[in-house]
Amino acid sequence: MSDEPTSSFPGDGAALVQGASRGIGSGFVQALLDGGRFERVIATCRNPDAADALNAIDDPRLSVIALDVADEASIRAAAERVRALDLPLRLLLNVAGVLHDSVASPEKKLEDLDAEALHHVFAVNAIGPALMLKVFRPLLARRGRVVVAALSARVGSIGDNRLGGWYAYRASKAALNQLLRTAAIELGRRNRNAIVVALHPGTTDTGLSKPFQARVPDEQLFPVDRTCRQLLAVIDRLDEGDSGGFRAWDGSRIDW
Ligand SMILES: NC(=O)c1ccc[n+]([C@@H]2O[C@H](COP(=O)([O-])OP(=O)(O)OC[C@H]3O[C@@H](n4cnc5c(N)ncnc54)[C@H](OP(=O)(O)O)[C@@H]3O)[C@@H](O)[C@H]2O)c1
Repeated sequence: MSDEPTSSFPGDGAALVQGASRGIGSGFVQALLDGGRFERVIATCRNPDAADALNAIDDPRLSVIALDVADEASIRAAAERVRALDLPLRLLLNVAGVLHDSVASPEKKLEDLDAEALHHVFAVNAIGPALMLKVFRPLLARRGRVVVAALSARVGSIGDNRLGGWYAYRASKAALNQLLRTAAIELGRRNRNAIVVALHPGTTDTGLSKPFQARVPDEQLFPVDRTCRQLLAVIDRLDEGDSGGFRAWDGSRIDW
C-alpha cells in the first residue's frame, strides 16, 4: 500500500454502494458524490421509498436501485438495472450488515445460539456480499482500477478474539473475510487491476453500534462522515498487492 492517496480511479465509470439506506452506507453515497470521482453513484437498498437519507439527496449523478442482499433474485434484478446504465463499475462497496435486529441479537453465551438468527446474520453479512461478487463480476470494469470492498469488522478476526460472545456476528464476518480472500485470488487471475478487500470501519455512530456505545471512549466513536472519508482514503492507497487483505480504517493490517 503506498503512503499517498492516489485518487487513481480513472474518472469514468460508476461506484456502487450496497446497503446504502442509512448509517455508513448512506455516508459513502454522500462522500462519493462530494468527491466527484465517478460519473455515477449507484445506491442500493432493500426499500428505496423508506430510505430517507437517500431521498434527501438531489443529485442527477445518483441512481437508487432496490436490492435485498439476502435474496439472490433481487441481486440479479438490480444487476440488470445497473447493466442498463452501461458504465464500467470501478468501485463496489458492500456495506449492509446486521448485528441486532428483529431476528438476531448478539449472543453472550452458547445457550443464546439460535439457528434462525445464525442463518439470518450469515445471509446478510457473508453470503450476500459473496453473491454480489458472483452476480456483479461481469459488470466490473475490465481495464483500469477496480476495487471491491466489503465492510467487515475487527471482531471477525479469529486471531484477535479474546473476549468471546457475539457468535453469529463474529463468525459471519470471519466467513465474509474468507469468501473475499478466495474471490481476490480468482479475480486477480482474471483482471490484474482488480483489488478485493475486507475493511474495518472503526466503531461508528450508527444504529448498529448504538446499544454498545456506552463503553466506547468519545475519541474512538467516529461520526459517519469521518468513517467514510477514512475508508475512502484507505481504498485510494491500495494497490494490487493489497488484494485479499483485511485493513482497518487507518490502513493498518488486521490479523485474520
Ligand atoms: N457501526 C459500527 O461501529 C461498525 C463497526 C464495525 C463494522 N461495521 C460494519 O459496517 C457495515 C455498516 O454498518 P452500519 O453501522 O452502517 O449499520 P446500520 O446503520 O445498522 O445500517 C445497516 C445497513 O444494512 C442494511 N441491510 C440490512 N439487511 C439488509 C438486506 N437484507 N439487504 C440490504 N440491506 C440490508 C440496512 O438497510 P435497511 O435500512 O433496509 O434496514 C442498513 O442500510 C456493516 O457491515 C457492519 O457490520 C460497523
